[in-house]
Amino acid sequence: MDNKTLIALREDLVGELDAINLYQVHIDEIDDEEVKKVLAHIRDDEKEHVAELVKIIRKLDASQEEKFQKEEL
Ligand SMILES: [Fe+2]
Repeated sequence: MDNKTLIALREDLVGELDAINLYQVHIDEIDDEEVKKVLAHIRDDEKEHVAELVKIIRKLDASQEEKFQKEEL
């Protein structure tokens, strides 16, 4: 696997994690229950995106996969 692809995937992963944090901050700051519910749904979608990115990174980066296995993940 070329480094360019893995670097892009890791940057995308950072973006998804940042998005989760930002949605969580807004959920905690906002009082409107309907808005909180919508944002929580979107936040959870971002968590799915994290899982999808980790899955493809694990597939493409053998040394990263070794580390996950070492940690029994
Ligand atoms: Fe996302």
